[in-house]
Amino acid sequence: MTVAPLRNEFPALDQEVNGRRLAYLDNAATTQRPEAVIQAVEAFTRYDNANVHRGVHTVSQRATDKFDAARATVARAIGASRPEEIVFTKGCTEALNLVASSWGRANLSEGDVVLVSTMEHHSNLVPWQQAATLSGAKVVPIPVTDSGEIDLDDYVRLLASHPVKMVAVKHVCNAIGTVNPVGDMVSEAHRAGALVTVDGAQALAHVRVDVSSIGADFYAMASHKVYGPMGTGALYGRFDLLDRLPPYQTGGGTIRSVTMEETTFAELPDRLEAGTPNVPGAIGFAAALDWLERHDVESLARHESDLLRTATEAVTRIPGITVIGQAARKAGILSFTMEAAHPHDVGTVLDSEGVAVRTGHHCCQPLMRRFGVPATTRASLAAYNTEDDVEALVRGLDKVARLFA
Ligand SMILES: Cc1ncc(COP(=O)(O)O)c(C=O)c1O
Repeated sequence: MTVAPLRNEFPALDQEVNGRRLAYLDNAATTQRPEAVIQAVEAFTRYDNANVHRGVHTVSQRATDKFDAARATVARAIGASRPEEIVFTKGCTEALNLVASSWGRANLSEGDVVLVSTMEHHSNLVPWQQAATLSGAKVVPIPVTDSGEIDLDDYVRLLASHPVKMVAVKHVCNAIGTVNPVGDMVSEAHRAGALVTVDGAQALAHVRVDVSSIGADFYAMASHKVYGPMGTGALYGRFDLLDRLPPYQTGGGTIRSVTMEETTFAELPDRLEAGTPNVPGAIGFAAALDWLERHDVESLARHESDLLRTATEAVTRIPGITVIGQAARKAGILSFTMEAAHPHDVGTVLDSEGVAVRTGHHCCQPLMRRFGVPATTRASLAAYNTEDDVEALVRGLDKVARLFA
């Protein structure tokens, strides 16, 4: 795949950092935005800036139409059956908190079990711990194998041996790149009478997501990990489930009628979207999904997978490097430790060479513990990365190896 024309659509990539060409390899933390997204947000901000679902005036109507169209785009992009199954949130974390809090409050009680994989991001673990504490339910971990995959035999055994009400699992692992077989996991969960919440934060940019073929009951998304703006995300929920969720937050926008004594709530999705939404964010999110559709996520994924193979082979040749996460199916994430240097030192030296990576526990402390490491260095790829970026990474790591030898 020729990346140059696509790369030119991203103004942030055309800069130097510390006197070097920027090699942006921190895409699992946040992706850069193409002109199409920047322009969609700017056009709203410049000409259509008005509140939604409130005004009879023309600008408000235009804003409302664009906001509603954004919801329809998100629904279509992930194969939801209707736009009302999409609730806009301020990110993936809020989407997951919404499910754990509202669904948990209405459905969990003493003795129930929530299965949470050991590789979950804290955003798909801590909210379930809180819901369990409040309800008397228990969080039980699903083990991860040495290669960084969910142990499916153990998963099936756990489903059979506990009163499981909910399974919480990520689609793609932000820390080590594993693509989990979420469709199979949902089938097993449903057979056992449990629901499944999928954390899709890292998936949308790298794999085709179709919630109806996955069968997910809830699917959480983050716009800024899929070439869209920060501060916006969405929760997909099966209509019948969302329709029964108690409001997560209440107040403006969520109500049908209010007296000083009581309130009745609006229909979906308004009932779950309290306050003024991030309208430019939602419009930018939809523009990002449209952009992705134009470029075909599957061919972008093939390009990322080729780069990952090149990067993994090159990095493994450097003495003292251990790659964490060797799953058979991986998205473009390369996580590793270096014997001689702490990840923070690795990240600092790489930055001096213009290479942006993430170091730390990646909000996955239980997974770090599983592999017996406090932290890793993570290089994460996006569609616009090139062989030059990989070469800059390898050059930087050679420098780390020399400095810390
Ligand atoms: C797998 C996963 N889940 C959830 C999140 C949280 O997303 P946000 O910060 O957009 O709420 C992240 C972000 O790193 C993630 O990688």
